[in-house]
Amino acid sequence: MKTNIIISVMVAIFIAMIIINSCNVSQKISEKSGAQLWGETCIRCHNTPPPTSYSDAQWQTVVTHMKVRANLTDEETKKIVDFLQTAN
Ligand code: HEC
Repeated sequence: MKTNIIISVMVAIFIAMIIINSCNVSQKISEKSGAQLWGETCIRCHNTPPPTSYSDAQWQTVVTHMKVRANLTDEETKKIVDFLQTAN
């Protein structure tokens, strides 16, 4: 009986650690700025055009298109679009 309780507590701690760790990872991603995400993501497949290449509306469309290709989250997409639009 006692062993069961100890095992349950250990399993609970283990699960808690996994949850805490996964939160840490997503926090690190969300700390990245739009400029940083842009620099790291958009050069993976092609030279990235400078922010001045397109209008605000065009960037919205381009990054929505690239979101699918680059497998970006909504948050990353928004940050990159914001960065590209303000740099215009
Ligand atoms: C997984 C690969 C991949 C990633 C990552 C990627 N792209 Fe692309 N991109 C492509 C491909 C392939 C094309 C051309 C075909 C198409 O339009 O789908 C393209 C086309 C473009 C074009 C159009 C170029 C032109 O001359 O018409 C722009 C602008 C662009 N990407 C910007 C970006 C930006 C900004 C990012 C970062 C958010 C990005 N791309 C990330 C693969 C990628």
